[in-house]
Amino acid sequence: MSDATNRRTPVLATRDLQKSFGLTEALRGVDLAISPGEVVAVMGPSGSGKSTLLHCLAGVLTPDQGEVTFDGQVISALPERDRSRLRLKAFGFVFQFGQLLPDLSALDNVTIPLLLGGTKRAPALKQAAEWLDRFGLADKGDKLPTQLSGGEAQRVAVARALVTHPAVLFADEPTGSLDSLAGEQVLAAMLGEVREGGTTVILVTHDPRTAAYADREVIVRDGRLSPGYRGADQGADA
Ligand SMILES: Nc1ncnc2c1ncn2[C@@H]1O[C@H](COP(=O)(O)OP(=O)(O)OP(=O)(O)O)[C@@H](O)[C@H]1O
Ligand SMILES: [Mg+2]
Repeated sequence: MSDATNRRTPVLATRDLQKSFGLTEALRGVDLAISPGEVVAVMGPSGSGKSTLLHCLAGVLTPDQGEVTFDGQVISALPERDRSRLRLKAFGFVFQFGQLLPDLSALDNVTIPLLLGGTKRAPALKQAAEWLDRFGLADKGDKLPTQLSGGEAQRVAVARALVTHPAVLFADEPTGSLDSLAGEQVLAAMLGEVREGGTTVILVTHDPRTAAYADREVIVRDGRLSPGYRGADQGADA
């Protein structure tokens, strides 16, 4: 493929990424380069290493071998404190079960990352309310997570992940717990916002219809990127 986006300096890249848990080799040498603004679907069987790859890319896990670079800086060797600061500043996260804080309202959940980043309470509340509005949740701000539908709760989780304008959004089965209609609403809302904001997205999914929203798909099998994957970043057209 001679896709011009693949020629740009990657926002995230891995070189020979390896990670084991005891005797389990979860990643066995992954090379991947992701361009700014790309939406990449990560697919593959259960246990193949998708979440491990996502966690290594996001600096949650450190690899045993190889490295991860973000904006040209090797982040995989940084101490946890620096990786944690980077995650707060540059990355957003959404998981299968939104993991909203159960005792806080939808609005307060979206406010939290801003407060952690040092924004004052009044502007944080204002920005959080704007994000709820963008996700069609303007009238749900005072609801607790248990008072929301699954799809609404996931949209709150996406708003919370995007409120800080992260460079990269990591989404691990973000619609995995939803029926197809609610899942599509969450995805459509999420991708509308990331496309507008130029956010790069790593989207782990089992569902080919979800993956179809992405610019390209990579397939993880037994801890490696499957050789024939669509949009290979190097050597594919050599
Ligand atoms: N913290 C951990 N401790 C021990 N083994 C782990 C740990 N995390 C992952 N593994 C193992 O590493 C392998 C890859 O796991 P991973 O969670 O990356 O798979 P996955 O592709 O995300 O699967 P799923 O689709 O089921 O979420 C599996 O064999 C898993 O059991
Ligand atoms: Mg997983």
